Parts: sequence; C-alpha cells; structure tokens
Amino acid sequence: MACLVCRSEIKPVISFGQQPIANGFLSPEKFKDEYFFELKIGWCPKCAMVQLLEQPEPEMMFNENYAFFSGTSRYMAVHFEKFAKTMMDRYVKGSNSFVVEIGSNDGIMLKHFKNAGVGHLGIEPSANVAAVAKKEGINTWVRFFNAETARAIVKEYGQADGFVAANVMCHLPDLHSIAEGIKILIKDKGVVAFEDPYLMDVLEKVSYDQVYDEHMCLFSATSIQYLFNQYGMELIDVEPQITHGGSMRYYIGHKGQHTVSKNVDQFLTMEKEKGILKEQTFKKFYDDCEKSKADLMTLLKSLKEQKKRVVGYAATSKSTTVINYCGITPDLVEFISDTTPIKQGKFSPGKHIPILPVEKFAANPPDYALLFGWNHKNEIMEKEKNFTERGGRWITYVPKVEII
Ligand code: TMP
Ligand code: ZN
Repeated sequence: MACLVCRSEIKPVISFGQQPIANGFLSPEKFKDEYFFELKIGWCPKCAMVQLLEQPEPEMMFNENYAFFSGTSRYMAVHFEKFAKTMMDRYVKGSNSFVVEIGSNDGIMLKHFKNAGVGHLGIEPSANVAAVAKKEGINTWVRFFNAETARAIVKEYGQADGFVAANVMCHLPDLHSIAEGIKILIKDKGVVAFEDPYLMDVLEKVSYDQVYDEHMCLFSATSIQYLFNQYGMELIDVEPQITHGGSMRYYIGHKGQHTVSKNVDQFLTMEKEKGILKEQTFKKFYDDCEKSKADLMTLLKSLKEQKKRVVGYAATSKSTTVINYCGITPDLVEFISDTTPIKQGKFSPGKHIPILPVEKFAANPPDYALLFGWNHKNEIMEKEKNFTERGGRWITYVPKVEII
C-alpha cells in the first residue's frame, strides 16, 4: 500500500487481528452476520505517516446504526468553545470574516462563531446531524469537502479567513483532495487549524486503542508538514491538546504569509529525536502493545480466579480494539456501563459484552471498573466519587496496566 501523504511504500508495523466495526454495537440477532476485517497499521519511512493498511467500506462504518454523538462529554463542549474563541482572537476577526468547518456535526463548535456574528459554513456529509445544526440556525451544507466543494463555496461566499476541523482529518483517506480544496478555499492570509490524536502520544502512552476502523491516519507535525508543503503551504504553529488522550492542533497557512512560531521547529526536531523516522521506534511500539495485552489479560484472569467482579466503564469506540485484540470476553468483564441510550441493551462489537446504563453500575457496583474511557478519566472520576469512596477500584491500561 502507498503512503497517503507522500505515496512511498508503507512498512507494516502491527496487526491487531480480526476486528469488528468499532462503533458497531449490536443486538443478538445480528451476531451471526457480524463483519470482521484485519486491523493493521503501517509506517512511512519517508514522511512518518502512520495509517491503516486496510479500511472497511465507509457504508460498513457510517450507517443508520452509527452510534457516535458529539456532545456526550461536557469537557469536549468546553474544549470546542475555546477552540472557536482562539480562532476568533487570532485569525477570524470580526463580522466580515468567514470560517468553514468540515465534519461540523451538530454545530457544537460553529455555534460559537454564529453567536459572535461571524460568517460561517459547516460541511457535514451526514444528513441527520446536519439537520440538527440547521435547526439551530447554523449554516450547513450536506456534502463532502474536496476541491469541487471548495470552488462552490468560494463562488457562493468568497474565500475563507479560517478553516477548522476537529477529529475529522484523521478519518479521511483522500488527504490530497482535502489539501487541494483548502488551497483554493483560504485567503492569502487565511489559516487552517485542525486537531487529531497525535502519533507521539500514542507511541509514548502505548494507547494503541486510537487505532480502529474510522481512524485512517495517525498524524505528526512531520507528516502534516510534508503533506501541505506539496501544496505551497506550511505549518505556522502547533499546539498540543489533552483531548482524546493526547492530540495535536496544527495551524497551516500559505507559504511565506505568516510568522512561523518557534514551536514548529521544536516539535519537528523533537519528533526526529524520538525516532519518528526510525524503524526501531515502531518495532518497540509492537513490543509495547504485546506487553500491554499480556499484562491486562494476566490481571483480568487473576481477578476472575479471585472471584472479583469486573465491569467496563464507557463503551468507547477505542475499547473495541482493546477488547478484540486482547480477547476480553463476558466471563472476564461482566458488562460495560455507558450513558449513550442507543448503545444500552446492545452488545459490544466482536466479543459481545452487554452494554448497560450507568444506573446499573451504581445499583450493583463491581469490585473493579475497567476504564475503557481512560481519556475522560478526570470527568469520570469526579462523577464516580461514590464508587471509589466505597472501596471500588479502577483498572487502567494507559500508559501501563495498573490498578489505580
Ligand atoms: P468515544 O470515546 O468513542 O467518543 O465514546 C465515549 C463513550 O463514553 C460514550 O459512549 C459515552 C461514554 N461515557 C460514559 O459512559 N460516561 C462518561 O462519563 C463519559 C465521559 C463517557
Ligand atoms: Zn509517506
């Protein structure tokens, strides 16, 4: 397979085995037809891109059963508000300015631009979530973003001062058509800002659960610089984010139009020093993943022998990779507690662990809660003070398997 950024040959890194659709929570009558594919990632020695080597057809992932909703987390809502404010402070100033967001979902970020009277447009391919945004008065087009869409936007509204995306770019295999569209869309002084889970965090924290069907790409400053350089654009700043267990926000502009922050060089150098272009780094990642799996299974089996009850906390998309790679079955984890109504009463993809409402967790607290939502740790710990105070213990596997 060719690298999605530089088109060189990709080197395989690790296979997480046969995996179902990460968000494919299902009812028992669907068990026999469940779809599986081999989840494996590869690395590009030339531009440091890390990507899936096989991706299921989009219809397998995004259909009427799709269980993802923005806004399940209070912290994320605050995060998007701050993202919008940062853009308005720096690049998208005043009511004459215009911002475009791709993957704008229900308008969780764009509403802050709208409320400030800033010209805005959301590009959202899922009609159902776009309808929610439109109802709130957020200007939204139901379509995919590419060069053709960019031309249509420019024709209708003119070029944009800002282009934003959050946890969207990493889903998209056709990065070149996006970059081409951006090049057309933004003004000479326009700025692109997008954020996604950060490769260096995944390597350091062994958070291999960031790898699942929907996450086609794991970016770094190195691979993003390489991508946009091909279009006469460059990184002008980078800002690490704590969201999604460690993300990076990349700011990009047309070459030579902005002062480049010293952060850019610092991060590019740091990535190189940490071995982003060395095969050894990815061999170590393979070993780290295998160790994490062995440690977690040893712990869960030992708790089972001690007749302790273990319940999963938060049926995240990420947990699907962990559950199916490690082989966690309902005899080890009794059920998974989750707040999303359409997941409740269903079963986890692949290993079919029941998903139950959080009230069941409170009503019959286990000895141990396995923190599948580790990236929401602070929010969850705050909510579940009662469980912890009454002697309930938490198990995490990021950055290492331990009882906390
Ligand atoms: P995601 O990481 O794939 O977005 O999934 C987050 C899931 O975690 C979602 O199904 C809701 C669940 N969740 C809880 O059950 N309790 C919580 O406190 C939080 C923050 C999330
Ligand atoms: Zn490459």
